[in-house]
Amino acid sequence: MITFQTPLDLVRVLCPETPVACVRPERVATAASWFQNNFPGDVLYAVKANPSVWALDAMYSSGMRWFDVASLEEVKLVADRFDDAVLAFMHPIKSRHAIERAYFDYGVKIFSMDCEAELQKILEATDYAKDLTLIVRMAVSNDGATMPLSGKFGCSGEKAVALLQAGRAHADELGVSFHVGSQCMDPRAYRVAMDAVSNTIMQAAVTVDIVDVGGGFPALYPGMQPPELQSYVDVISEVFEEMPVLFNADLWCEPGRALVADSTSIVAKVELVQDGKVYLNDGAYGNLFDAAHCKWPFPMEVHRASGKTSVLQKSFTIYGPTCDSIDVLDGSFDLPSDIKEGDYIEFGMMGAYGVAMSTRFNGFGDTQTYRVRDSISQTMYETQEEQALRYENNVIFLPQRQA
Ligand SMILES: Cc1ncc(COP(=O)(O)O)c(C=O)c1O
Repeated sequence: MITFQTPLDLVRVLCPETPVACVRPERVATAASWFQNNFPGDVLYAVKANPSVWALDAMYSSGMRWFDVASLEEVKLVADRFDDAVLAFMHPIKSRHAIERAYFDYGVKIFSMDCEAELQKILEATDYAKDLTLIVRMAVSNDGATMPLSGKFGCSGEKAVALLQAGRAHADELGVSFHVGSQCMDPRAYRVAMDAVSNTIMQAAVTVDIVDVGGGFPALYPGMQPPELQSYVDVISEVFEEMPVLFNADLWCEPGRALVADSTSIVAKVELVQDGKVYLNDGAYGNLFDAAHCKWPFPMEVHRASGKTSVLQKSFTIYGPTCDSIDVLDGSFDLPSDIKEGDYIEFGMMGAYGVAMSTRFNGFGDTQTYRVRDSISQTMYETQEEQALRYENNVIFLPQRQA
């Protein structure tokens, strides 16, 4: 992959006409290594967060062998790339076809479910296989999360008790899983979830071989200061010891965002500036899906190939390229007052659910990928001193986002 020292160098050399994903595989490797060295169990990368092959390769090079996949396409992607990958099909609702192909063609043995109809489907599609690992996805509180994921998947109460019992009768290994919600800012959310799951296991009176605490681990978006990742691991380790599961039960986690968020920035071109509005070639239907919908304070920097932009700032609304009026970033942004056509805006922290969400709406959606060395994004895997050192020679411009 072609490498530039900085996104500004890239802009100067290429003046790119389509959006560019500036990627930093070493950031993915650092995050993946941190989890593998510090989480007291198996780490499954949630591929949905960023299925780019450079990210998968960086995971693999850092030792990651377990992958949480959500569709047959993700199964194929990972299985065709890595012979020795272990795949867990963790979408609670799968098509019969996907289950069948995953099991018979790709050797997938781990499936999640949150209702008896799905259990039945898994059993029929695998011809009542005897070597299945069945994971019961439970619904838990998402109170500590910045992006709650409850409401769609997960069982609780009597249904969960019945599903654990039914699953036990067919599983070679039985597991429980949950998701505390994405960008979880409070490690205690894992305790609350694990305690609730423990209650259900006790009511079901079944033997449990695996506890999968899901994803939800946070990344360092500007203005959000989550506790250190180690405090999440400490809570999870402590509560796991108290759970009513087999003494040699396995502990899993499935981070997505925390492994890739700070690895990628998106560089989008300014196509027009008019009446306080900036129109870009990327937006809510493209790589900036998260920036448009999450309303989080992503770091931003304006690059001009031909020189410097004004230090004076003005408030602008940022629009994407499609004809849909919801293709706009919520709020307004302080940008250089002289921003103009041909400038570029770099959005940091776009590695998770960024490129992965891009659509072809209105014929947009092409993105080029280049490796760069420096970054406007902070990271959970760096001390403040290390970060200060890295930023020493960079002027980082963080426009204020106003509601
Ligand atoms: C089953 C499952 N596991 C893991 C993840 C990754 O979550 P996060 O990116 O918050 O770590 C998700 C995200 O939706 C998920 O649905």
